[in-house]
Amino acid sequence: MARETWATRAGFILAAAGSAVGLGNIWRFPWVTADNGGSAFLAVYLGIVLLVGVPGLLGEFVIGRRGQKSPAGALRDLSGSRAWGVWGVFYVITAIALISFYSVVGGWILRYFGESALGVVGTQPTYFAAPGQYFGSVAAGPDAFGFHLLFLALTALVVFAGVRRGIELGTKVMMPAVLVLLVGLAVWAGSRPGAAEAYAFYLAFDVATVRANFFDVLGPAAGQALFTLSLGAGTMITYASYIDEDRSLPFDATVIATLNTLVGVLAGLVVFPLLFSLGVDPSQTSPGPGALFVGLAGAFAQLPGGAVVATAFFGVVVLAALSSSISMLEIPVSFLVDEYGLGRRPAVGLVAAGVVVTGGVCAFNPTIAGTAVFGFVAGPLVDTLLTVGLVAVLLFVGWVMGRDALAELRSGAGNLSAAVATPWLLAVGVVLPTFLVFTLLTTFGVDADLGFWPTALVAVAIGAAAVAGLRTERALV
Ligand code: PHE
Repeated sequence: MARETWATRAGFILAAAGSAVGLGNIWRFPWVTADNGGSAFLAVYLGIVLLVGVPGLLGEFVIGRRGQKSPAGALRDLSGSRAWGVWGVFYVITAIALISFYSVVGGWILRYFGESALGVVGTQPTYFAAPGQYFGSVAAGPDAFGFHLLFLALTALVVFAGVRRGIELGTKVMMPAVLVLLVGLAVWAGSRPGAAEAYAFYLAFDVATVRANFFDVLGPAAGQALFTLSLGAGTMITYASYIDEDRSLPFDATVIATLNTLVGVLAGLVVFPLLFSLGVDPSQTSPGPGALFVGLAGAFAQLPGGAVVATAFFGVVVLAALSSSISMLEIPVSFLVDEYGLGRRPAVGLVAAGVVVTGGVCAFNPTIAGTAVFGFVAGPLVDTLLTVGLVAVLLFVGWVMGRDALAELRSGAGNLSAAVATPWLLAVGVVLPTFLVFTLLTTFGVDADLGFWPTALVAVAIGAAAVAGLRTERALV
């Protein structure tokens, strides 16, 4: 059977942008920003998206389009080594970890969407009365499990319908809807009293703060950049494997990163004015999983016409989350289809059945060895998996593919790509992995023991050794 492909070029861009735009932009981004000093974080984050995100996206695209297989098969075929094929299973595991907590959050969103809509037709939704208490009562347990199943079923339905008739068609509708609704909401939020104050908090660019906090925000900013661009999970490898024509990958990567950033910034333009208009100081509100559901839901409850706005808002989030969760489910599905010759439908059934269980564990959120499962999976586990996953991808592109990666990048990309190709390969093979390992160490607090200069020295040494190695190995530079 012929491998499925995207029907149109816009189809690939929208599917990949749909994967990127998700809870990371709307649920995580505004709060991580607020928690890490607002504009200072924003500046570092934007820098990482541009300097790590776009080259990283290109790395995954190059593997996917050249390999024409899901991560395990692509890594194995392109390297000719079974070991890389085994490593590909890492991405299947990452995808399952991702969707396990994502589907639970998606379930919360579905519930809040439904309740808001009921509020519009006159049945007062329950979360309006006491948002904090209410969220506490539905976030974990049978309620959370039920809505997790519902969200998972919706996700599975789209993936079940296939690349063209499911993912491509779905994201072609979802992505524009998200953009239009968010712009509308942002305009409306801008008319609220307190909006000016909110913009000042959110957008004021303060060089001194950036400088003072640079190393503190580096880890969270890198984690957020990878998560929001769907990097390190093999999603972009998988989606790029459905490209069957040569077109400019750098162009596509830039469009996707831009769209994704736009949605993140727009979401902030909705969230912050709403909070400020009610006198909630975001830097004083504790972030975390419940933030959107407690802080914002509280705002909707107090605003005139709040139920209508809430319906639109949670509607946006449902669509954005769904277009991301389908890209997570597609990773293990394409693995089973490519590697074991399973049909798409049984593959979806098998993976979904597994996620019913793994997501169920997140939904009931037991405490194992003193750690609550949900927070661990959604935070440190996923951050680490994505970072390690991306480092492997980058090293693969730089050291295993080498010249092939350059050729793949340039194919269909016009003259500009000739100028950026070699610097890109050097960045991907050396600079970015070094940087990511560094952020991983800061996340684990290793730099605290080592001190800044020794850490920097080690980083530089690794970089220099890598450049030297790349020179002799591949005679590239
Ligand atoms: N980028 C998605 C979001 O921001 C999350 C995601 C991560 C999706 C990794 C796929 C792979 O919500």
